[in-house]
Amino acid sequence: MTRAQIRGVGHYLPERVVENAEFESIVDTSDEWIRSRSGIERRHFVADGETTSDLATRAAKAALADAGLDTSDIDAIIVATSTADLTFPSAATMVQNQLGMRHGFAFDMQAVCAGFVFALSTANAMIVSGQARRVLVIGAETFSRIMDWTDRTTCVLFGDGAGALILEAAEGTGTPDDRGILSSDLHSDGQYRDILYVDGGVSTQSTGHLRMQGKEVFRHAIEKLAETAHVSLDRAGLAPSDVDWIVPHQANLRIIRGTAQRMGVGMDRVILTVQDHGNTSAASIPLALSVGKARGQIQPGQIVVTEAIGGGLAWGSVVLRW
Ligand code: UT7
Repeated sequence: MTRAQIRGVGHYLPERVVENAEFESIVDTSDEWIRSRSGIERRHFVADGETTSDLATRAAKAALADAGLDTSDIDAIIVATSTADLTFPSAATMVQNQLGMRHGFAFDMQAVCAGFVFALSTANAMIVSGQARRVLVIGAETFSRIMDWTDRTTCVLFGDGAGALILEAAEGTGTPDDRGILSSDLHSDGQYRDILYVDGGVSTQSTGHLRMQGKEVFRHAIEKLAETAHVSLDRAGLAPSDVDWIVPHQANLRIIRGTAQRMGVGMDRVILTVQDHGNTSAASIPLALSVGKARGQIQPGQIVVTEAIGGGLAWGSVVLRW
């Protein structure tokens, strides 16, 4: 059977690094509170004029270089984002243009912090069904553009960045020994819209700011993430003891710890970037995959579980063999 294998990975972070202490002069907060409640120590913010498609394009170029491919080898681009440059066209077509690519197709996918998991699952379906042979899957965000800088409960938590994976069709045996995407599990439940949303948009004629009832989101996160990871592992014919790395959405260290514990996987098998990136929404998983590989943690043949939850609520997981 056809499998979608990982051919390359890359990321890009904007130059400006903002330490927790900088927020102490903006809102009533402290480095100690941010670290102890979220695990975040610093994050990157875009410069004036720098956009989501700029970050996405740089991550895409890094992934192409890692794969030893150029755009003529790519059939499709999916950008997972909630912070596209413009209402339309999609950030993905802007990336396509910035890469000088004139063939294939490109589109955005919006499932907020779970966006990359949804995009991976979609790219996998396209590859397995024969619609595309190589797909560039990008998560890219500029959440600094939708922060309310007077709201200490949200503005200290988010960051900007982009990560990219290249998936490629390859023949597998249909067993968990195959490399590539082995299974996925996706969910959403729109009744939770008010606990994490942006209070603006095209149809309400404003850009809006992110609003979050953090404690409520937290309450759902660990249980739903552990559950979806178990479902994906089960679908792949694997157990938690087979997992080499959990690569979680990097929103909060306490959620990451709680989820790993509930899955029965030790923290020595979790890729952590939340301390350096903050919550970069759909970019956090591909960033963590790229950093995890660059650190020498993720090795070929290893089992990786990604899981994420965010606005919607929308959540899900993907199991793959690197
Ligand atoms: O990526 C999408 C998914 N999002 C998430 O997964 C986020 C999930 N939620 C969280 O990560 C956590 O709920 C937060 C980090 C947002 C908050 O942590 P918490 O332990 O749930 O704190 P809390 O909201 O219960 O707030 C505790 C206290 C409150 O004061 P009182 O009411 O106890 O007096 C807040 O007003 O901390 C206060 N507080 C702050 N204090 C200093 C809230 N934000 C800050 C702040 N600095 N920045």
